[in-house]
Amino acid sequence: MMSEPLLQVSSLTVTLPGGAGPLHAIMDLNFSVRRGGTLGIVGESGSGKSITMLSVMGLLPRAASVTGSVRLQGREILGLPNAELARLRGKSMAMIFQDPLTAMNPVLTVGVQVTESLRLHDRSLSRRAAMDRAAELLETVSIPDPRRRLGQYPHEFSGGMRQRAMIAIAVANSPALLIADEPTTALDVTVQAQILDVLQRMRERLGLALVIITHDLGVVAGTADRVAVMYSGRLVEEGDVTTVLAAPAHPYTVGLLAAVPRIDRGNTRLLSINGSPPPLSNRPKGCAFHPRCSVAQDICRSVTPSLQAVGSSQVACHFPYGAAEASRP
Ligand SMILES: Nc1ncnc2c1ncn2[C@@H]1O[C@H](COP(=O)(O)OP(=O)(O)O)[C@@H](O)[C@H]1O
Ligand code: SF4
Ligand SMILES: [Mg+2]
Repeated sequence: MMSEPLLQVSSLTVTLPGGAGPLHAIMDLNFSVRRGGTLGIVGESGSGKSITMLSVMGLLPRAASVTGSVRLQGREILGLPNAELARLRGKSMAMIFQDPLTAMNPVLTVGVQVTESLRLHDRSLSRRAAMDRAAELLETVSIPDPRRRLGQYPHEFSGGMRQRAMIAIAVANSPALLIADEPTTALDVTVQAQILDVLQRMRERLGLALVIITHDLGVVAGTADRVAVMYSGRLVEEGDVTTVLAAPAHPYTVGLLAAVPRIDRGNTRLLSINGSPPPLSNRPKGCAFHPRCSVAQDICRSVTPSLQAVGSSQVACHFPYGAAEASRP
């Protein structure tokens, strides 16, 4: 029996109110996450990664209009009443937000914040039992001396320790899906690797599925099995990580990959894609990437490419790399 994916997002469209008319933040997004799998969502800042996963969590502002379908464990959750979504959050899906300093409450000890999230879903848990469980959780994410740490405030934690505490809070109720939004940004390289390692350990231990949002394709390389590349509110390439990294088909993915520092390239200057992503209010016609694309043709300026199979990946480009070889008999 083909088991259905843990998370299935179909035709997701998010429209935000803007001063000069509605802003199309996300357009017709399709992707899935399998049980126990890790999906990396990659793209420059402003490509819609956070909005996508906030809409899965049901955490977008009220003024946002969200259409399409979000199925979690086979159940449609888009448009569920807030109270029902609140019940799912923590227990079925949890998210580690982009900025751990603002995501934690500065005036409550870490212990209070971890136990609150435990007791939110289990009212029968005594304070003492919750504290014991909280200490276990900190230990699980490799925070040394957990008893003492529980009595401290977030500002007494280093960036890496705070991120570990956020992971502990997120997994407190053993969710089936854990979303980590830029979990390693602003951490130094050694700590980055440790945090990614903790996330992978949680995935294995709890059997959860992981979504890692990052602007750094390098983060995806060592952690994810699938990758979804986003540009200006659309999916532009999706596939198996090994395949996409070895043979990226979308010119944007090629550009992102060239920007990843690699030891074997020596100390050469990093290549980067010229320019920056367009604002939502002024998205170029056709392929939104065309002003920055070195292989753009006339059709790119008028016709928006839709996703199509290129090898084992899905790519939205009129002239994907590797297409000619892939279609050869
Ligand atoms: N509440 C909002 N109102 C209007 N525009 C927004 C809002 N939140 C985000 N945006 C815009 O939506 C786009 C995608 O944002 P986001 O999902 O945060 O990008 P990413 O996480 O990939 O950096 C950006 O252009 C951002 O400026
Ligand atoms: S559709 Fe055209 S402009 Fe867009 S990425 Fe492909 S080649 Fe470049
Ligand atoms: Mg973001």
